[in-house]
Amino acid sequence: MTNDNSKDRVYIFDTTLRDGEQSPGASMTLGEKLQIAEVLDEMGVDIIEAGFPIASNGDFEAVTEVSKMVKNAVVCGLARAGDKDIDRAADALKHAKQSRIHTFISTSPLHMKFKLQMEPEEVYEAVISSVTRARGYTDNVEWSCEDGTRTEHDFMCRCVEAAIKAGATTINVPDTVGYTVPEEHFELFTMLRQRVPNSDKAIFSAHCHNDLGMAVANSLAAVRAGARQIECTINGMGERAGNAALEEIVMALRTRGDVLPYDSSVNTEVITRVSKLVSNVTAFPVQYNKAIVGKNAFAHESGIHQDGMLKNAETYEIMTPESVGLKESSLVMGKHSGRHAFRTKLEEMGYELGDNQFQDVFARFKDLADKKKHVYDEDIEALVDDQIAHADDNIKVVALTVIAGTGGPQKATLTLEVDDRHITKECTGDGPVDATFNAIKAIVDHSASLQLFQVSAVTEGTDAQAEVSVRLEEDGKTVTGRGADTDTLVSSAKAYVSALNKLMVKRQKTKPEALAAS
Ligand code: KIV
Ligand code: ZN
Repeated sequence: MTNDNSKDRVYIFDTTLRDGEQSPGASMTLGEKLQIAEVLDEMGVDIIEAGFPIASNGDFEAVTEVSKMVKNAVVCGLARAGDKDIDRAADALKHAKQSRIHTFISTSPLHMKFKLQMEPEEVYEAVISSVTRARGYTDNVEWSCEDGTRTEHDFMCRCVEAAIKAGATTINVPDTVGYTVPEEHFELFTMLRQRVPNSDKAIFSAHCHNDLGMAVANSLAAVRAGARQIECTINGMGERAGNAALEEIVMALRTRGDVLPYDSSVNTEVITRVSKLVSNVTAFPVQYNKAIVGKNAFAHESGIHQDGMLKNAETYEIMTPESVGLKESSLVMGKHSGRHAFRTKLEEMGYELGDNQFQDVFARFKDLADKKKHVYDEDIEALVDDQIAHADDNIKVVALTVIAGTGGPQKATLTLEVDDRHITKECTGDGPVDATFNAIKAIVDHSASLQLFQVSAVTEGTDAQAEVSVRLEEDGKTVTGRGADTDTLVSSAKAYVSALNKLMVKRQKTKPEALAAS
């Protein structure tokens, strides 16, 4: 934590679970959203936007369950400017210790004419009625003018004044299409704060998309002009090119306090953990050279840099790896390590497992230590995450034998446990992965199509575990599954089966209304 009383506080509003989930293909299960919300709460974000309750039953359930679980942060639900949306958001938020309704409507000429097909005066009236309705449920109401950066200033000032008068406590000005530049954004916030007569009665907020790669710079420019809330996502997830990245914002505030004298309550040492979690859950890899959380963000390759680093780390490092929670990869233990040492290691890594789960994980650790010379923290992490992710699965991989090689046809013999029954099938395919997936299809008939198949190595070396992510799509529903094993084909089968398990759960949930909000 970096709280410094001499600095102005900037509230961090995390929208990974709402705007972040709007990244094409990035859908998360309820359990995954809860896992992320728990870490966000622990890391000290001020507000968690947990979803858009009217958009689907899944979103409603996510906002409800996050509301019940979160201890410290304000939980927020999104709503368009209509009674049904606002009532549904209020219903989903009713268990939250602290809740916020976030209502929005477009105010730019383009959006009003083509998207809403409403006259400006109708939009103006909707601002007042939506904020008033939301205030009937909570005194913490945020109002957003969608496409704010392409809105005429006079109209925006009128709407902002009306929203504050109706009771909005936060005014968010989204750069919905990532169009603005820092100087312009600075002037926009300055103008609003100067011209709107009751501007001192609300907190101003920036919500920037990254279409031109300026989301973080634009957000910080808004802060310099008086905004005191930034809306952002982990790893910069979000529609199209994404949203402003939370980790970049909080590290910029922490590292450049000399020119940005503002403070956030985020414990930056949780950044690496939450970044990995979001990337794993969504199967969205983090680009190697991504600021703060990229694999290379703290790596020094050239001889000159390495030499400087050895003499004094500050020569080439403006932040320490520890400040973002990056630890030296440490050698854990081998096949002779005992139960007690392994449990202690898990506790150090932040895992609290029940007895049965521990027994299963320990058995898998022993197996792994037999196959792999060195077992690292990352191996243990992959193994435990894999075990937790598959604990409730109805379909499980029991055995797989694959004949691969240049000769062809490649053949897979697979046994799955389906609702406690073992079923075995043998299939050929165009390569060993295809043969394996065909065998899964032969056992569990389904029409989902494969959208993504991604393999990465957990550690270095040819004996490394392979972590596979698979994304399946069926009737517009997407699910992501993961699997880890030293055998890439076994990981692939596990990942596919994990996605299938999630699909079964999703099939049971129906969508009342399909909505889109950027
Ligand atoms: O980008 C945007 O305009 C949004 C609003 C719904 C706040 O996400
Ligand atoms: Zn947005």
